[in-house]
Amino acid sequence: MNPIEDVSDFLDNLIRFFGDGDIDFGFSPNDAGSYYQYFVPGRVNLIGEHIDYNGGLVMPIAIAPGIRGLYKERSDDYIGLYSTTHKARAIIAISDLPLHYGADNDWCNYPLGVIRYLKDRRVPIKGFDLFFDSTLPEGSGLSSSAAIEVLTAYILLKEYGGQVDLPQIAVMCQRVENEFIGVKCGIMDQFAVANCKKDHALLLNCNTFEHEHIPFELDDYALLVINSKKPRSLIKSAYNDRKAESDEAVKQLRSKGALREGQYLVDASMEAVADIGDELIRRRARHVVSENLRVKHAANALRMGDLHTFGRLMTASHTSMKDDYEVTGLEMDMLAETAQNIDGCLGARMTGGGFGGCAIALVRKNAIQPFTDILSRRYEKATGLLCEIYVTQACDGVREI
Ligand code: GLA
Repeated sequence: MNPIEDVSDFLDNLIRFFGDGDIDFGFSPNDAGSYYQYFVPGRVNLIGEHIDYNGGLVMPIAIAPGIRGLYKERSDDYIGLYSTTHKARAIIAISDLPLHYGADNDWCNYPLGVIRYLKDRRVPIKGFDLFFDSTLPEGSGLSSSAAIEVLTAYILLKEYGGQVDLPQIAVMCQRVENEFIGVKCGIMDQFAVANCKKDHALLLNCNTFEHEHIPFELDDYALLVINSKKPRSLIKSAYNDRKAESDEAVKQLRSKGALREGQYLVDASMEAVADIGDELIRRRARHVVSENLRVKHAANALRMGDLHTFGRLMTASHTSMKDDYEVTGLEMDMLAETAQNIDGCLGARMTGGGFGGCAIALVRKNAIQPFTDILSRRYEKATGLLCEIYVTQACDGVREI
């Protein structure tokens, strides 16, 4: 692969050519028919954190910021990947696709992993250019990597006549993340950005992939996303450590007959967990088992429109991530715990993989302004960081636009 080049001028011209100020890759009358546009959203998880890789239940929604993809055929056997965020492009011969993650390939690793995977599965890929234009901040826990993976897979399967099965696309992209990128993540992010529905939360069983779209009706309340601006990369090692600790808990529970072969950590009872001798492994397991129960209660609360209970469960989820799973950190605790105590807030928690990123809060609509003022002020005073707060809605997953 050629090194990633800075092509700011070219992309600026492209943006000017295709759209208005908001980087809108609209069709150009001259090119109608040769460019195809797609969109994938980001996601926030309402509850059910770090339990997707433990066979648990999760409840994400897709959110409005996302990545727009523009596909165009080429007449040679090269692939051009362009990013307006990075103001850069990489050109690579199809015969030269990498086998593994390469640090130099930076953001291209995600689309490259997917392209490699599809090519190995005999999708008849020919030369093309793919332009990515993102409103999804990277490294903020809103699933920008799952989004670009799912978008790439969706576009190429559409363009090359493959079977566009959204759950299958999610599974495939998770595999890319696990095997090509090297993060042992679960299925939640890829499944969410592929399958979520407007105005609904997705209740997903990460073991069976059974899922239900539960109406996400908040009446007098709103869901706020709070970006801590504390940069977070899914620090491979910390994330993979938690996965290894969960596996260790399974091993110990199995050896005592508290879990059968084929069962997941979420299937253990709280009594069996309390019996784990190793203190650290016990706390990790306690988070996983209790979080799964919280998701079940939260799903019922949402079905019944009981937002007070839903909010309390969000807050309990944060406490468990902080004390037992230890994936939050100073900034996220400050943000979530301050939010929880502001008038009009029913509950708040960190969302996503952790170690920085975003929190979410359920706040009464007429209290949003004072909530935002108080939270930003206190957070800045404590951390020196300016957080970003906005109201979000539940959106549709990946699609052609
Ligand atoms: C990241 C991973 C997901 C999930 C969350 C934590 O977002 O990609 O698979 O494990 O962390 O819930």
